[in-house]
Amino acid sequence: MTRTVIHASDASRLAPDREPEPSDRERGTDVACHVRAATADDVPEMEALISHFARQNRMLFRTAPDILASIDEFLVARGSLPGDALRLVEQPHPDGDFLLGVCGLHPVGLGLAEVRGLAIHPDVAARGIGSTLVDACVERARDLRIAKVYTLTLVPRFFEKRGFIQVDRGTLHLKVWYECYRCPKFANCDETAMIRPLDLEPFPQPA
Ligand SMILES: CC(C)(COP(=O)(O)OP(=O)(O)OC[C@H]1O[C@@H](n2cnc3c(N)ncnc32)[C@H](O)[C@@H]1OP(=O)(O)O)[C@@H](O)C(=O)NCCC(=O)NCCS
Repeated sequence: MTRTVIHASDASRLAPDREPEPSDRERGTDVACHVRAATADDVPEMEALISHFARQNRMLFRTAPDILASIDEFLVARGSLPGDALRLVEQPHPDGDFLLGVCGLHPVGLGLAEVRGLAIHPDVAARGIGSTLVDACVERARDLRIAKVYTLTLVPRFFEKRGFIQVDRGTLHLKVWYECYRCPKFANCDETAMIRPLDLEPFPQPA
């Protein structure tokens, strides 16, 4: 399939807040989970889940102190796991449930925020949890009145389904590369840049 890659500044003109495909949240997921803002208690599992994929070169490593320093950016999905599922940490969470997924929204200024640190527990993949978390981060951006969200990703097809469109990486503002210097693939980047412009409601005008 041929994909059209466009200039980042054209994205909002070409795709005014494209409707994402219905996530399993709307369709009804078969995993009982709830999404909430992350807290310090979630950090050990978040670090373990992100490290699981970082060891496979699918994400950047994030240390526990790094995660804690930006804890207010992350949402977590929590719930139960099958009995034979991978246990990320030995110590149980105080709530007695398990981390099923995590996703962060990092504002970078210029009306832009990055959807980053997305990881779903491998034993509950393909159940709509990733979609639910990305949609929740997009809603958060909308609440913060941030006009565009973007991501740098190895799974563009997943983000296309969430209403993101591929853009030419070279046309993104330099600010978006703030983390790339610590990426082992810096010189040989294989990630796809994607943007989703948000159709923000105008502020009500004073009468
Ligand atoms: C990629 C990932 C986030 C997807 O989350 P998920 O909860 O498994 O995905 P969902 O069930 O919400 O999938 C939604 C849709 O995206 C598709 N999709 C999911 N993972 C995909 C992938 N790797 N490639 C292409 N499409 C994918 C699904 O088939 C589904 O399509 P459908 O609605 O037509 O059935 C998750 O599998 C993951 O954590 N992968 C490893 C870490 C990673 O790659 N993180 C992203 C870094 S940017």
